[in-house]
Amino acid sequence: MKLLHLDSSALGANSVSRQITAAIVEQQRRANPAVEVLRRDLDTDALPHLSSATFGNEAAAAESAAVLEEFLAADTVVIGAPMYNFAIPSALKAWIDRITVAGKTFRYTEAGPEGLVPDKTVIVAIAAGGDHAGQPTDFIEPYLRFIFGFLGVRALRFVRADGVSISPERRAAAIEAAMAGLREPLSRAA
Ligand SMILES: Cc1cc2nc3c(=O)[nH]c(=O)nc-3n(C[C@H](O)[C@H](O)[C@H](O)COP(=O)(O)O)c2cc1C
Repeated sequence: MKLLHLDSSALGANSVSRQITAAIVEQQRRANPAVEVLRRDLDTDALPHLSSATFGNEAAAAESAAVLEEFLAADTVVIGAPMYNFAIPSALKAWIDRITVAGKTFRYTEAGPEGLVPDKTVIVAIAAGGDHAGQPTDFIEPYLRFIFGFLGVRALRFVRADGVSISPERRAAAIEAAMAGLREPLSRAA
């Protein structure tokens, strides 16, 4: 079994989402000691944004293909998704732009779009300064639900820590609640 571990927080050791993705990966390792973990840090090893400079450039095309292959090869993908300006970090969007590829992860048919990666498990750790869960101010979870659904992913789980900038107490409580949620089977953390 292969697990792809992605982080996109720019806050390094202070990152809440990094703390939670690390716990998720640790949990997955305990559940399956043979799991092969591949790590991609989208902050320290940032992918360039898609642009005219990346289209038609051989090295950029090779990098995009490698990123896509990593995703296709993974059984489980663990993603750290901090809220920056109400949305995912652009570093994470750059990765999504590499894995959302017609003919590889989705296709358009007469009957509408069809996702081509139904058998992956995707687990997303969201961290947000304010309280946004279920609110119209959250452009992370609805967007990621849509995009991974579009790719056909059926096992999609979210683990959230909201309100972490409100006070140190709220931050600690939100992290603790997220970690407690991990102790339950992930099928109940959706
Ligand atoms: C550049 C930046 C933008 C942010 N924008 C928002 C925001 O729009 N809404 C919010 O609730 N919190 C916002 N925050 C707070 C973060 O969501 C919070 O610090 C969270 O812990 C980020 O996840 P991380 O610790 O894994 O980086 C922002 C933080 C930064 C650094």
